[in-house]
Amino acid sequence: MTEVTLRRYLTESGLDPNLIFLLEDIASSCRNVANQVRNGAFEGNLGSANVTNVQGETQKTLDIIANDEFERICANSPRLAALVSEEVEDVTWLKEPEAEDYLLYFDPLDGSSNLDVNLSVGSIFAVMQVQADGDRNVLHSGRNQLCAGYALYGPSTMFVVTVGTKVAGFTCQHGTGDFRLTHPDMKVPEETSEYAINTSRYRYWDAPVRRYVDECVAGSQGVRERSFNMRWTASMVAEIHRILTRGGVFLYPADSNNRAAGGKLRLMYEANPMAMVIELAGGAASTGTEAIMDIQPDGHHQRVPVILGSRAEVERLDAYHAAEAKID
Ligand code: AHG
Ligand code: MN
Ligand code: MN
Repeated sequence: MTEVTLRRYLTESGLDPNLIFLLEDIASSCRNVANQVRNGAFEGNLGSANVTNVQGETQKTLDIIANDEFERICANSPRLAALVSEEVEDVTWLKEPEAEDYLLYFDPLDGSSNLDVNLSVGSIFAVMQVQADGDRNVLHSGRNQLCAGYALYGPSTMFVVTVGTKVAGFTCQHGTGDFRLTHPDMKVPEETSEYAINTSRYRYWDAPVRRYVDECVAGSQGVRERSFNMRWTASMVAEIHRILTRGGVFLYPADSNNRAAGGKLRLMYEANPMAMVIELAGGAASTGTEAIMDIQPDGHHQRVPVILGSRAEVERLDAYHAAEAKID
C-alpha cells in the first residue's frame, strides 16, 4: 500500500491551498509541542509558570510554550486572520480581516494537569472563516467549522483531523517526524459499555446525570441489564481518542458547582472541535438539552456542559434531561 502523508491526504481532499498551509502549520505546531512535552523535564518546564490565565487557572510553563509555538508557526499562514487561544484573553488579530480569511481556535495544551505525572496530554483546534471584509466577529457556531481535530501526545503522537468528511488519524513516525495515515476512517462504535466522568463531583450533579451514572454503576443488576466500565484520564483529548477507538461516552456536565461559569470546558476550542470530530465519526455531542455545534456563542472563552460519544448513550442522556425538564 502506498504511504499517505498528511500533505498528500490534504492535497487530495481538494481543499483551498491556503487552508492546507494552515493545517500543515497546525500539524507542525503539534509536532513541536510533542517534542517540548517529551523533553519538558530536561528543560525544567513541567511545573507551574506561577501565572493565572484568563480562565483563572494556573498556567503551566508548557501551556505558555505550546501557545507560543502555535502563534509563531501559524502566523506564517497567509490567509490566517486571527487566533483564539485558551491561554490568551483577547482575540489575536494577525491581519486586517478579509472575507474567507481563516480563524483558528485552539487549546494549545489540553489536560495539562497530567504533565507532572507523565500521562497523555494533547492539543485541540478548529478552523472557521471571516464572513465579510473587515468583519472582526469570531463568535460563530460550531456548524461553521471547516475542519477540526486534535493532537494526542501519548505513547505515540497522533494528529486526528476532519475536513468535513471522514475523521482521519495520522501517526507521527518517530525519527522522521512525518505524519502518516494510519487510521483512515475513524468511527465511534455504536455499542458501548464505557463511560467517563469525574465522579468526585457526584454531589454537585443534576438528577439526569446521577440517574445515568447510577444506572451504569448498577450494571447487570439494574435497568441497563449489563455491566459498564469507567475511565477518567483528566485529559479530554485522551478520552475522545479512546471513544473514537473503542466507543464510550464522555461527560463534563454543568453542575451546582460550575453552573455559574456555564460548565467547565470551553465551547470554541474544546467542545466544538471535539463535537465535529465525534459527529463525523457517527457519534453525537450535546449539552444535554441541545447539540453543542448549534450553540450561538456569546463569548470566545464561553464554557458549556459537554456530553459526547456513542450516539445511543448521548441520546439517552438527552432523554433523561428532557424527562427532568418535564417534572420541573
Ligand atoms: P486544560 O488542561 O486545557 O485546562 O483542560 C483540562 C480539561 C479536560 O481536558 C479534562 O477533561 C478536564 O479538564 C479535567 O477536569 P478535572 O480536573 O475536573 O477532572
Ligand atoms: Mn483543555
Ligand atoms: Mn489547555
